[in-house]
Amino acid sequence: MENKEITRQIEELKKAKNAIVLAHYYTHPEVQDIADYIGDSLGLAREAGNTTADIIVFCGVHFMAETASVISPNKKVLIPAQKCGCSLAESITGKDIQEWKAKNPDGLVVSYVNTTAEVKAETDYCCTSSNAIQVVEHLGKDKKIFFTPDKNLGAYIVQKTGIEMDLWNGDCCVHERIDSNMIVGMANQYPEADILIHPESNCANDDEILNMPNAFFYSTAGIIKHAAESNKKQFIIATELGTLHQLEKANPEKEFILIHPKTICGSMKRVKLQGVLEALQEEKYEVKVPEEISKKAITSIQRMLEIG
Ligand code: 13P
Ligand code: SF4
Repeated sequence: MENKEITRQIEELKKAKNAIVLAHYYTHPEVQDIADYIGDSLGLAREAGNTTADIIVFCGVHFMAETASVISPNKKVLIPAQKCGCSLAESITGKDIQEWKAKNPDGLVVSYVNTTAEVKAETDYCCTSSNAIQVVEHLGKDKKIFFTPDKNLGAYIVQKTGIEMDLWNGDCCVHERIDSNMIVGMANQYPEADILIHPESNCANDDEILNMPNAFFYSTAGIIKHAAESNKKQFIIATELGTLHQLEKANPEKEFILIHPKTICGSMKRVKLQGVLEALQEEKYEVKVPEEISKKAITSIQRMLEIG
């Protein structure tokens, strides 16, 4: 079936079933084009909480769909592909957090939203790359903080806030390859460009990069906002390939250069247009968090939504 016909059928089913399609910026362009809302992790979590739809088709990775299910337990959350894992979410378990808490009974655990619901259930505060600094600043220096699971985002927050934290040693297999040499190389090659970097990148706590006047660290939504508001004509995009779609659509007169051709998240790319159609037709694959975990995980997620 051609994409045009798949899209027509998706639109028909969305109406018939009171369904909404949410998509992350890293999904395929044609998937983003049928979404009712495209966003970063924070925006998607908010949208999952605000929608009046009965069904949410979540075009993203598994932990994002789980978060939507925790926020909206009475809605049916579907993910259009299986095995949409995330190397960060897979790096830590609830037991790892319990072990840290046993040694630090007065400490606080802040977990990046790229974690399983089981980990969120053991967490005091969740955050995303949009509000991580605000969440940690909100907690201040009085208590010991354990930041999980992204060591790069954690180190970036320590640099920006001056608040020391214990860091879990997880990384994103896509952003870990974005190192300082790569950024410096691109800056030399494109001296007029702004360099927009996701803080999951390996260079996120390197002073040389943090002090570059034309380098900026943002969540995916922040990258898109910066490009739209800037007078610059050229941008180096140091995050996943999919982000280019909205950047190019919204700014046809500007040039966007991907930092490296291999910054591609295989899990996000498993979500295909045909999969979205089948998800709606067959109401598969449902993502449902067990009630006892969901009831515990909601607290750390709600705190995240309240802070930033
Ligand atoms: P954002 O919240 O910036 O969209 O990041 C999510 C993610 O998984 C980045 O790799
Ligand atoms: Fe996870 Fe990295 Fe993919 Fe984001 S890009 S979903 S952090 S594996």
